[in-house]
Amino acid sequence: MPLPRSLSVTSLSGLDDWTEEFDLGDAVLFEIAWEVANKVGGIYTVIQTKARLTSEEWGENYFLVGPYMENSVRTQVELIEPTNPALKRTIDNMNSSGCKLYFGRWLIEGSPYVVLIDVGFTAWSLDRWKSELWENCGIGVPWFDREANDAVLFGFLTAWLLGEYAAQCEEPPHILAHFHEWLAGLGLVLCRQRQLPVATIFTTHATLLGRYLCAGSVDFYNNLHKFNVDKEAGDRQIYHRYCLERAAAHCAHVFTTVSHITAIEAEHLLKRKPDVVTPNGLNVKKFSASHEFQNLHAHSKARIQEFIRGHFYGHLDFNLDKSVFLFIAGRYEFSNKGADVFLEALARLNYLLRVNHSEVTVIAFFIMPARTNNFNIETLKGQAVRKQLWDTAQTVKEKFGKKLYESLLVGQLPDVSKMLDKEDFTMMKRAIFSAQRQCLPPICTHNMLDDSSDPILNCLRRIGLFNSSSDRVKVIFHPEFLSSTSPLLPMDYEEFVRGCHLGVFPSYYEPWGYTPAECTVMGIPSVSTNLSGFGCFMEEHIADPSAYGVYILDRRYRSVDESCSQLTSFLLQFCQQSRRQRIIQRNRTERLSDLLDWRYLGRYYISARHMALAKAFPDVCVLVRLHTCTRVMHFGFRYPRPASVPPSPALSRHSSPHHSDDNDDDDERYNEDLEAEKDRLNIRQPHSPQYRDKSGLPDAIPVS
Ligand code: UDP
Ligand code: G6P
Ligand code: GLC
Repeated sequence: MPLPRSLSVTSLSGLDDWTEEFDLGDAVLFEIAWEVANKVGGIYTVIQTKARLTSEEWGENYFLVGPYMENSVRTQVELIEPTNPALKRTIDNMNSSGCKLYFGRWLIEGSPYVVLIDVGFTAWSLDRWKSELWENCGIGVPWFDREANDAVLFGFLTAWLLGEYAAQCEEPPHILAHFHEWLAGLGLVLCRQRQLPVATIFTTHATLLGRYLCAGSVDFYNNLHKFNVDKEAGDRQIYHRYCLERAAAHCAHVFTTVSHITAIEAEHLLKRKPDVVTPNGLNVKKFSASHEFQNLHAHSKARIQEFIRGHFYGHLDFNLDKSVFLFIAGRYEFSNKGADVFLEALARLNYLLRVNHSEVTVIAFFIMPARTNNFNIETLKGQAVRKQLWDTAQTVKEKFGKKLYESLLVGQLPDVSKMLDKEDFTMMKRAIFSAQRQCLPPICTHNMLDDSSDPILNCLRRIGLFNSSSDRVKVIFHPEFLSSTSPLLPMDYEEFVRGCHLGVFPSYYEPWGYTPAECTVMGIPSVSTNLSGFGCFMEEHIADPSAYGVYILDRRYRSVDESCSQLTSFLLQFCQQSRRQRIIQRNRTERLSDLLDWRYLGRYYISARHMALAKAFPDVCVLVRLHTCTRVMHFGFRYPRPASVPPSPALSRHSSPHHSDDNDDDDERYNEDLEAEKDRLNIRQPHSPQYRDKSGLPDAIPVS
């Protein structure tokens, strides 16, 4: 797609009208991150989901740069010859100078071009580059820090790539390079040190010190202004990493981060205030039938239920239809991700459900990768036993069906007592015997390498949640990211989330937090906190978040114990909802998805890019009104409370008086009723045309 000669950004409602006009005719955008085509955590999600929008804007002039990882490339990248002549010469020259660079299309939405660098191939340069880094920048990287060594190699190679590309261009080029996170930051520092003609942006998705300090027992947010940053970094043996990160933040033409809370943190810990906050978006899929996502929930839930039947074989003494599935997922940072608070709340919830003789059973999943050596036997056996029971039932059913058919063929009603013979009963008894179990259903699906010191397992031992019959809260710890090729739970993460009822992410340290955002766009309610970028963003833009199934836990102004109590009450409240109330709540949650769409949030990236170009190439790119970029950060709008119903879905029941709680057939009608009610009341949701801006996207609603 040819790059438009000029791009403009229309205003957000509530701001004066403004446009930025740029002549971007020959500009080229390189976006550089260690997680390009290499899944680690949320940064991968940023790059992967944003690619479509950025490709639409930059067309053939957009290149992602990341490390070459053989496994990922094999499944995600189509290697091709470089299309851009200057880039082809650049890659050829580097490859003939002892590097290994690959060019291809990343097979994701938008199919962006990728340049992948095999950093290991150039490891022979590591010592030389480290000396250069020390001599020119005064940063010394110790030999034993493998990640930092990779950062040095990746940094020097990306700076080489950009410098070589600039040299290969016939006209003076306008290069924009956007670097993500400290692992990629050195390339930016070297671009500036070598005075390359490159406009640079550095986005931090967390600060190194913030992550490390929070993982300890520090009162982080009340002491942000007091930390002696050099000492704290030195004490944790990350001084060299910290220097790389801080240098990148200071050298960048434009410095950005993903949330206001991390902007404040960066200002204190990296000593530079971000120029723009770039909240993370997602590619929101809209279904042609508005309730399709509810059907997907039902379908995925059935698959999770099947897994549970196997996992709890011999102990299926609870009603699966009255079970609620909760989950936490993400990188295994026990306290930063709030697994500690979740476990404590589960223990309290277990007690409350027991004393109230609740019929509800809670199954809480922990999806956090830890060191393991594969699935454990007991867990695999569970699925095998379930399969055997299923097969037995099918065999008997078939025989039964055949006999029934034969008797109908001769015009007789069958004698039911003779339909099954002794052999059938023996087979069924054998199957029942094999489904007996002496031990409790396992907590953990894998053999843990650090079983005795694992924080989740140790906490479960302390609070006494062992999946016993009397427990109303059962726990399953799956210490590996989910995959559709797993022999145990063959579902990918998205499918799994859709099948659950509530995501619980009570993070203490979370610059953004994709996991609750992903729940929201799939119409699954979630718990986040007022210490996570996502939680603060939703709190700022929604008048009554919990009515929309976005529960925001207070971890800022409450003690840990109080936060646990608050979470317990959220969970209890959630468990007390009827099916119908959950359906309504999911509808409301899903309505928020536009707020998290890149089509809307991508504007912040556009602003950051224009700002960087205007700073680096002031003669060509004039930022018409520079201050608008910072104003974008502060505009205010809010989703109103759902007007159709008060915060508790319980009180909205009058809108469909003839439904029984558990009648599935009624659910769809109930959804339709709800939509009809919205139409009748002409609810002014952001979907309504009067709230759409010129681009057709939902616009901001000014605070009244
Ligand atoms: N995730 C995944 N598979 C899983 C669990 C999580 O792919 O089984 C992804 C999830 O979709 C999310 C990312 O991991 O995009 C975690 O991002 P987040 O911003 O929540 O946390 P981070 O790990 O970056 O701190
Ligand atoms: C969706 C489906 C319904 C199903 C319901 C289950 O709304 O469209 O057919 O009954 O999910 O909801 P629950 O919250 O009980 O999993
Ligand atoms: C980081 C943060 C996470 C954020 C992600 C993407 O890994 O820990 O909160 O969502 O980056 O920005």
